[in-house]
Amino acid sequence: MLSNKRIVLGVSGSIAAYKGADLASKLVQSGAIVDVIMTKAAMEFVTPLTFRAITHRPVVTDWYDSSSELSIQHVQLAEEADLLLVAPATADIIAKLALGIADDPLCGTALATRAPMVIAPAMDANMYDNPATAENVAKLKSRGAVFAGPGFGRMASGLIGHGRLAETPEIIATVRQVLGRHGDLAGKHVVVSSGPTEEPIDPVRVITNRSSGKMGFAIAEAARDRGARVTVIAGPVSVPYPFGVDIIPVHTALEMRDAVFTAARACDVLIMTAAVADYRPVTAVGRKIKKEDMASLTIELTKNPDIISEVKGSFIKVGFAAETEELLRNAQSKLRGKEMDLIVANDVTAPNSGFNVDTNKVTIIERSGEILDLPLMTKDEVANKLLDRVAALLTSPSGRPAKAGTP
Ligand code: PMT
Repeated sequence: MLSNKRIVLGVSGSIAAYKGADLASKLVQSGAIVDVIMTKAAMEFVTPLTFRAITHRPVVTDWYDSSSELSIQHVQLAEEADLLLVAPATADIIAKLALGIADDPLCGTALATRAPMVIAPAMDANMYDNPATAENVAKLKSRGAVFAGPGFGRMASGLIGHGRLAETPEIIATVRQVLGRHGDLAGKHVVVSSGPTEEPIDPVRVITNRSSGKMGFAIAEAARDRGARVTVIAGPVSVPYPFGVDIIPVHTALEMRDAVFTAARACDVLIMTAAVADYRPVTAVGRKIKKEDMASLTIELTKNPDIISEVKGSFIKVGFAAETEELLRNAQSKLRGKEMDLIVANDVTAPNSGFNVDTNKVTIIERSGEILDLPLMTKDEVANKLLDRVAALLTSPSGRPAKAGTP
């Protein structure tokens, strides 16, 4: 996604400037070409050599430094940039950007570029809360700048409040989202269910499964990075939620059903990766079941509703099928029986495939009969292969199903 993207990283004078080095490193690892511009104040905290070593490119520090081949090329840098990222952005640099001051290479580049701008503020909480900063932030947002953070927490001064530089994954997620906002899913609302459900037996025990949420979150991030508005209905997971999407946390299959029905009313695509419990205890006991109470225990189960079968509407309906045998036959039967447009047959017997791993071995089957057998891939790659098919269905005149309204 960031492969060969030209990102100009502006680093200003905050103690968080050292985190800019990690940010630059992660951007480079994601395939971006990163040109760093440092303000004079930033160089009080970190040296240009740090960024040069990470990016393998000259670092701009001065308009007039004749030893730097980039010093007089700021306009060229501004023209070539796909995105300008200012991180960390101090209150001072935010004020200068808002006013259009251009007295250093960073502000000059910001004024000269037509590339989108992402700003990650870092300052003391009182400075961020000051109405002057709030006005500057609002002004920049109204001109299209996108803010990542700031986070809430303890600052270097000891103050607790808003002003911490957002964590690197959040800043990179914002960069990816901004770069992809005119992608092939722009203007579409994609709903993804992810993770397991938990069906309570008593206050401390549940029936659940091994789904981690990784596959669903990879799809959510990929859809976000292709321009979609994304809603994730997430069962109880231990992996971090994706940034830049709406999260609706649920526990039980019944809660997931309600959330899916509500979200599906206004969606273009529904993708159910969730491993929904097919059964739940008829009654959840109100107190912890004690083993002393009985020699054996029988729990009566009742069937949960089949969410994907029940939900109807004029959206593309995508399901997953985790299978241990008869992969294609079972998946094709679910595709037809549950009235899906497309199913991802998930071979969970293949090594490193399926539950709670970062890779997956899948076959994508369409209602038209088309079959795409994929090798073992990262879940991010699977997500993009799936979304390629979804995007094609969205544009094909026969792809969009006309179905009865959601119950
Ligand atoms: O979360 P990870 O650790 O990354 O693992 C990902 C995964 C293995 C869970 C995922 O890739 C996957 O295969 N999910 C489907 C799990 C499954 O076996 O589903 P199923 O065959 O029980 O159901 C078929 C489809 O019906 C699924 O889209 C499911 O969400 C849906 N369903 C199932 C039961 C139910 N009561 N309601 C449903 O909507």
